[in-house]
Parts: sequence; structure tokens; C-alpha cells
Amino acid sequence: MLADIVEARFQTSRPHVFMVLGKGGVGKTTISILLARELSEIGETLIISFDQAKHIVKYLRLPKAMDIVKVGENLYASQLDVDELARRLTAKYVDMLRELLPSLPVLNLEDVVDVVKYSPGVEEEVFMRSLVELYGDRRFKYIVIDTPPTGVALRTLLLPRIYNVWIESLIELRERIVSLRYIIARTLGRKFKLEDPALLRLYELKDSYSKLVKLLSDPQATSYIIVANPEPLPMYEMREVISTLEGKLDVKPKLIILNKVLPEDIAAKLGVLEQQKKAIEELSQMKYKSMIAGFMDRQPSSLEDVVELRKFIRPL
Ligand SMILES: Nc1ncnc2c1ncn2[C@@H]1O[C@H](COP(=O)(O)OP(=O)(O)O)[C@@H](O)[C@H]1O
Ligand SMILES: [Mg+2]
Repeated sequence: MLADIVEARFQTSRPHVFMVLGKGGVGKTTISILLARELSEIGETLIISFDQAKHIVKYLRLPKAMDIVKVGENLYASQLDVDELARRLTAKYVDMLRELLPSLPVLNLEDVVDVVKYSPGVEEEVFMRSLVELYGDRRFKYIVIDTPPTGVALRTLLLPRIYNVWIESLIELRERIVSLRYIIARTLGRKFKLEDPALLRLYELKDSYSKLVKLLSDPQATSYIIVANPEPLPMYEMREVISTLEGKLDVKPKLIILNKVLPEDIAAKLGVLEQQKKAIEELSQMKYKSMIAGFMDRQPSSLEDVVELRKFIRPL
């Protein structure tokens, strides 16, 4: 069982997060569903897709994105919707700005929403915030995240580190402003409240991002699973993911699954036997746990099909 291979019995009160990474089309959604299905036999499990292709909605017949829906015993599913989350986030910030800077000209929410929605980086921002919430969601023992395309997924994982650098500088700047205001007020003999809402918010953010940085690199909190196919591009992205995980987050993948491996005679007929052998050889040279998932006779497209896929999985 996949759940055994990833040693899913962790002793923590917060949910353990499994990030399923890999190139689009390799079978991330399929493997994520299978893993979640198996984990649900141990405890309450949520499978949540960050991929805006939203395939999981069809796969699990979810009525709509964003809601958490029960799809089996102890098994819940959800699809994040970036546009909707960007809208909620913007509304929250417009409120906060109005409160912090009452002198600001009136902001029209709809205008701001459009600017935010189409801004670069908004996807990563929304995903990062969702991660913070998910790690704190004690309703679940396990959370399986079906990640967006590799570039977005990796940037999301690195974002809290980058933010911490920015926020430290912002805190320094704001502290200088507050102390200058204090000096001016004292010189003028005016009363001055040292407590600064903006500064408090910055301290809060710093705290929340530092926690996230720790959780993402803590094997007790997060496991990374990479899915690839025995083809050049998926294998290339797999190496990219490994090098970012190891080089930037200081973590190792828990498991690599080589999916859609063909029986040798069929691979030979299709002229892909050599590249398949090469991929298997490359994985066996690596020091990670690896599994092979065979090509199914029909494309899995439901929870039942995915459970069928179990029979096609074997150790490398
Ligand atoms: N082992 C397999 N054998 C046959 N088809 C598969 C297998 N794994 C996935 N597929 C099919 O490949 C397609 C892409 O899978 P999916 O899980 O949606 O990939 P991703 O989430 O990485 O984009 C789907 O049509 C799925 O049914
Ligand atoms: Mg997918």
C-alpha cells in the first residue's frame, strides 16, 4: 500500500501534508487520489487540488470548486479556485487599508479585484496562504495536495522564505517611522500611542511565514512525492523538483513514482523501450524510495478506477 511506503503514521496533532509534484499529465491527480484514498483508511483525509486545470472536479464529481465535499469514508475533497481566493483576499486587504489608512482615496473593490486577479504572482500568493490554513486545519489527519504546474508549485514553496526577507526590511523601515513619529510628538509635547497597527501586522506576518518555512522543511509535517513518466520531459522536471527540494528547502523526496510504465513487449513495439529502461535505471541509481505504476488498460477517471490502479503498482 502506498500509505505504508510513505510511512504515514506521524505523531503530531496537526495534519501531515503530502505534496504531490511533477509535470502536467504524468498522473499527479490520479496518484494523489489513490494516496488519499489509502490514507483515509488510517484517518480523516483531505485531497485538495491547487491545479487550475481543475481535473479533480470531474474525477471525483465534485459539485463545484472551493467546497470541501465528502467523497468516501473519512475522505474529503476540494478544488481551490484562484480567482475566487484572489477576490476574497483583495476584499480583506481593501478593508484593512481603509482601516489603516483612512486618508486614502476611496477604493473601488471591483477595480482592485481585477488588478489583483491578473497580477503576476497572485497564484503563488493565494496558494501560500492556503497552505498556512491547511497546516492549521485539525479536522484532518492527512492532507494530500495535488499541486499546480511545477514552476508555480516550486515558487509557492519558496515564497515564504522570500517574503521573510522583504518583511524584515519592512519592519525595520516601519520601526524607524514609528520612532521618528514618537520623537516628533515628544518634541511638540503631544501625546503619542507607541502601538502601531501596521507594525503589529508585519510582526504577525513574519511569525506566520517563519512557521510555514519550518513546516515545509519538517519531515514530520510535510512529505514530498514526485510523479514522473519514463519520458525525457517528465524526467527533466523530476530532476528540477529534486534539486529545488534539496538545494533550497533542504528536504528529500519521500517517494518517486514512475507512472505509465508499459509492459516491455508493448514498449518495444512502440519504440520507447530504450527510454523506459533508461528512466528506470536512473531511478534505481537514486537513493530514494521508488515505485513503478504500470500503464492501465483504460484511463483512470473515477475513484473506483484509481483504486484499480493499486494492482499496477510495484516496487522499482
Ligand atoms: N497508470 C496510468 N495508466 C493509464 N492512464 C493513466 C495512468 N495514470 C494516469 N493516467 C491518465 O493520464 C491522464 C493524466 O493523468 P492526471 O492524473 O490527470 O495527470 P496530472 O494530474 O499530472 O495532469 C489522465 O487521463 C489519466 O486517466
Ligand atoms: Mg492534475
